Amino acid sequence: MIAIGCDHGAFDLKNEIINHLKNRGFDVKDVGCYDTSSCDYPVYAKAVTDSITSGECELGILVCGTGIGMSMAANKVEGIRAALCGDCFSAKATREHNNANVLCMGARTTGPGLALMIVDNFVDTPFSNDERHIRRINMYS
Ligand code: RB5
Repeated sequence: MIAIGCDHGAFDLKNEIINHLKNRGFDVKDVGCYDTSSCDYPVYAKAVTDSITSGECELGILVCGTGIGMSMAANKVEGIRAALCGDCFSAKATREHNNANVLCMGARTTGPGLALMIVDNFVDTPFSNDERHIRRINMYS
């Protein structure tokens, strides 16, 4: 299952991503927000990271205006490796090299077409399991 959350700045993008993932056959847990009223993105970052640290979801996606606040908030949580991506290469590489478990994107910086391609690269790429990458990830904390 993939958890997804947004703030008011990325509500439309979140819905596009949910539709895309569901059409591809993924189970999606939508933690909100559920409209475009101004809200606090760390609330939704916490809801997505809770879904991952509890074991309910394997991966998460967080979208806000820039993706920056979401990535900062998510990376405060032990066990979360959140990657802010604006291109497909980074989305694939961060799964292979960093075993990223949360993808962050900005709805005001990344158009919806590219955002869906980034999502596909992220969810379709497994961690390499390479010893050197495991060693480096273990050095994060
Ligand atoms: C909300 O206006 C905006 O600050 C938020 O969406 C995000 O860009 C924060 O990093």
